[in-house]
Amino acid sequence: MQRVDLRSDTVTHPTEQMYQQMAEAPLGDDVFGDDPTVNQLEQESAERLGKEAALFVPTGTMANSIAIGTLTRPGDEMLLMEDSHIYLYEAGGSSRLWGVHPHPLPSVAGCLDASDIAASIRPDDPHQPRTSLICLENTHNMCGGRVITAEQIAPVAQAAREHRLKMHLDGARLFHAEVALGIPAAQLAAEFDSVSFCLSKGLSCPVGSLLCGSAEQIAEGRRLRKLLGGGMRQVGVLAAPGRVALSQGIDRLAEDHRRCQQLAEQLAQLPGARIEPNPPQSNILFVAFDQIDSAGYQQMEAELEALGVRVLAIGERGLRAVLHRQIDDEGLQRAIEAFRQIRSI
Ligand SMILES: Cc1ncc(COP(=O)(O)O)c(C=O)c1O
Repeated sequence: MQRVDLRSDTVTHPTEQMYQQMAEAPLGDDVFGDDPTVNQLEQESAERLGKEAALFVPTGTMANSIAIGTLTRPGDEMLLMEDSHIYLYEAGGSSRLWGVHPHPLPSVAGCLDASDIAASIRPDDPHQPRTSLICLENTHNMCGGRVITAEQIAPVAQAAREHRLKMHLDGARLFHAEVALGIPAAQLAAEFDSVSFCLSKGLSCPVGSLLCGSAEQIAEGRRLRKLLGGGMRQVGVLAAPGRVALSQGIDRLAEDHRRCQQLAEQLAQLPGARIEPNPPQSNILFVAFDQIDSAGYQQMEAELEALGVRVLAIGERGLRAVLHRQIDDEGLQRAIEAFRQIRSI
């Protein structure tokens, strides 16, 4: 029997329509700017986020990295959340690649707090790095897919304007926020100089992310993409499913949100269970249990795997489950049953 894979929404395979479009896409050499399918995807992405231009890159990590590289100078400092993907899981790229010093701050309901920002901005002093960039994340992965609202972003943007800081949004799952809040992604992107989003998380593409920003930033981003080895050739075969994802894949994210809420309701009934966030806001949840430590969660992960259900044990935070297109109602029920079995209900 097929496993119910809740480790991430990156595990999805392309849809039939995506395969068809991959086979039929007009192609060219994208390093020469000749791939019409990539050009269309970039244009549609920029329009969708209300930015002047966009750049197609293989991964969210590369999109974030290029954003940091284009919005800073070597020796600058950036403010970001201590549990953000950029800080935790991108191999320290900002310092290694661009000489940019990360300054982690606590996340408050998945966002930075404007007073923490104000207190962290460096004075103009030759002993200190220049604070030049703020990064946020929407939805916030390690906060259990929390959706960041325009009201949360506004005071951060105000602080950025007052202190002339740039703003980048890691919007790997920005369309989940669009669906959860019922407001266009462009509205959530408006305060940011640049925004990245991923086609391969929840949207079922095999690969691909976009960085959207000003025409000037994206032109410089093209240079940095080349520097990183990310200049690709007949890559319309990968942009084609991206176009399908943007036109067909976003509305159905609501189904993943619904199943995530159902999963939360059922897991909350297990003895000693705590759901974070409760209720879930998008397609991700964490479940933790009283008196279980990280070794205990590893053990639970293995027990669930033996029952054909895969989740991720993440340190002391508990087990992370992520809903996506390949988890239907039956898969959801199997996951719930497996949890009940290992918690002996
Ligand atoms: C919030 C967030 N940002 C960025 C990334 C990086 O994306 P990629 O794995 O495509 O490099 C991820 C990956 O899961 C993510 O969850």
